[in-house]
Order: sequence, then structure tokens, then C-alpha cells
Amino acid sequence: MAIMKTLYSQTQDTLRLNPKIWLITGVAGFIGSNLLEALLQLNQHVIGLDNFETGFKENLQQVQALVSPEQWQRFCFHEADIRDLDSCYKAVNGVDYVLHQAALGSVPRSLEDPIRTNSANITGFLNMLVASRDAGVKRFVYAASSSTYGDHPALPKVENIIGKPLSPYAVTKYVNELYADVFGRCYGLSFIGLRYFNVFGSRQNPNGAYAAVIPKWYGALLHSEPVFINGDGETSRDFCFIANVVQANILAATTTNPEAINQIYNVALGDRTTLNELFKLIRDRVAKTNTAIATAEPSYRDFRNGDVRHSQASIDKIQQHLGYTPTHRVAEGLNEATEYYVANTKNGSSKR
Ligand SMILES: NC(=O)c1ccc[n+]([C@@H]2O[C@H](COP(=O)([O-])OP(=O)(O)OC[C@H]3O[C@@H](n4cnc5c(N)ncnc54)[C@H](O)[C@@H]3O)[C@@H](O)[C@H]2O)c1
Repeated sequence: MAIMKTLYSQTQDTLRLNPKIWLITGVAGFIGSNLLEALLQLNQHVIGLDNFETGFKENLQQVQALVSPEQWQRFCFHEADIRDLDSCYKAVNGVDYVLHQAALGSVPRSLEDPIRTNSANITGFLNMLVASRDAGVKRFVYAASSSTYGDHPALPKVENIIGKPLSPYAVTKYVNELYADVFGRCYGLSFIGLRYFNVFGSRQNPNGAYAAVIPKWYGALLHSEPVFINGDGETSRDFCFIANVVQANILAATTTNPEAINQIYNVALGDRTTLNELFKLIRDRVAKTNTAIATAEPSYRDFRNGDVRHSQASIDKIQQHLGYTPTHRVAEGLNEATEYYVANTKNGSSKR
């Protein structure tokens, strides 16, 4: 029986035969370094830009260890800040596709320092748009966010129905969408915005006040520290494994479907996992390496201000227009994330 290849695997074959030049901003971060790994493994030429504000040199070293020396030679790194327009111009020169990931993430961080979040996420974003427009890139793909759905209660989340933003971070991500749209209309820039929903996977930072829930809980369980759940644990999210996000970026950059371009897409699974379910999924996996964890229970505390109760994406649009076919459900993604966190957390403290 003939096996049908997915559009993604066809795209990967085409890229291997005909390598392109990519710019990844935020390349030393969680998502950026995973994009770097995937593109180098496809023998692409990659320019990376990062100022290490929340990213790590160690993430780049880990990618170097995962690719061949020939592949690593195709990577050129700029230690630079997207708030500096000249640095954006230098990085984007000669590039085919931009994958713009650099930003200050985290809702709580933006509540504490809205000015800093604004300057990276809006001024930096605008600089990257201007530089990409002037360099004549083939496509500008950027990290948007499910936070743009704000206070709208409808489920599942459909791209054209959004509410009011609930944080400065959400404002910045919505402004990105407005700016990209205007650059498409006024200057003919070809763009795609990807609204990520709770991404998780290797190289996501488990440390610090602004860590995301999955790496934070791995860190806590592996260090035998308490896991805190805000609220009753029935809050749910559409957790999305990093491999699916990498796929969405590559499909968005390379699509030739005219209807697919200058659009926003949800990037998720279309599933809903409660925090109580998530805790059990992570605990059961970590318990395989340390049986004492098998009976660990979470500590419940107050709901966090501004957290929405449920989040679940419709992924119909990205499936139809970009041929996105997620390869990892939550449980499969957690298996891979567990391997990573167990291997990278030593002697009671993260290696990082
Ligand atoms: N992780 C998620 O679940 C998620 C969800 C929605 C949207 N996003 C978006 O995806 C993108 C990547 O997020 P991530 O989770 O990999 O975060 P991350 O913090 O790991 O990566 C962001 C990277 O951008 C760099 N950076 C920040 N400000 C910069 C500046 N001024 N100049 C140059 N580099 C700068 C950081 O040093 C870091 O390496 C961000 O735009 C984020 O808002 C992430």
C-alpha cells in the first residue's frame, strides 16, 4: 500500500534539496533554539540573533552537540538587541525567511515591568518588520500568542473572535498582529502570525519567577520540592509540544498557498488538559526515575489574578491552509520532555 507523505515531510525533503537562508530572532531561547536544531538538521543556513536577556548560551551549545560539525558551520550568530534597528538590518541582510521569536514572555513579568516588555515586544517587533520589509524577505513569520483571546469566553478559540487583552504582554502581542497586518496591506510584506498555546519541551527554562508551568513542575519534582497549583486544578490549557510548533513555523515560512498568507493561525492540539491531569501525567513519568515521587501530591493555593479558566484552540484553520498535522499529543510530548529534564537536572540543581 502506498504511504501518503504529509505536506510537512514533503516540505522537509524540498528544503534538504534546496537549502534556504533563515533568520531566527530569540535563537538562544526555548522555541528559537528548537527551530535552530530542526533547520540545521535539514541542512539549512541559519542566522541567529539574541541578546541573552532570557535565553542561554548553553541552549546554543546543546544544539551544537545535536547536529554535525558541517551543519553547525551553517549557523552564524549575532549577539544583538532587536531594539536596535541597525542590528536588525545587519541580521536580515540576504535572508529568505524570518522566524521572529525574540520577545519578553510571561504575563507576570509584563505586569511588573510593562515598559521593558513594550520596548522588546513592540519597538523590537517594529524594527524587525521594517528591516524585513527593506531586505525584501520572502516571508516574515512571527510568534503571536493565545493571550490575544483575552477575556473572550468562547471555546474553542477561533482566530477571528478575540476579546480584550488581560495583561500588558497580551497588548504587545495583539499590537504585533495589527502592525504585521498593516505592513502586509501598506508595503506588501508577506507574513504569517502563529498564536502559540502553552508550548512545552526541551530547553524551556524551569527556573525563575517567570517559568512556565510544565518545566517548573519538572524542576520541582526532580528536586523533591513542592508543586503548587493555583486554584482547584480544574483550570485547563491546550498544551502544545515544541515539535508541533517547529512544524507550524516551517510550513508557514514555505507555503505557496496564496490563501494561507497574511493570516494568523492557532498553533496547538485542539485538546484540553486540566492542571490536575497534567500533574499526574508528569508525576507518573518522573516516578519512573525516582519511585519516591509516585505518591507526591500538589499543594493548592489561591487562583492567580488574570488567569483564564479554560483555553482550547480550534486548529481547523492551520490544518486546512497550512497542512499542519501535529505529530505529538500531550502524553507523547511529555515523554520526550521527561527524558530531557531528567538528563539535564543533576545533583539537586538544574545544570543551568
Ligand atoms: N513558550 C510559550 O508557551 C509561548 C506562548 C505564546 C507565545 N510565545 C512567544 O514565543 C516567543 C518565544 O518564546 P520562548 O518561550 O522561546 O521564550 P524565551 O524567553 O525562551 O525566548 C525568547 C528569546 O528572545 C530573546 N530576547 C528577548 N528580548 C530580546 C531583545 N530585545 N533582543 C534580542 N533578543 C531578545 C531572549 O534572550 C530569549 O532567548 C516569544 O515571542 C513569546 O512571546 C511563547
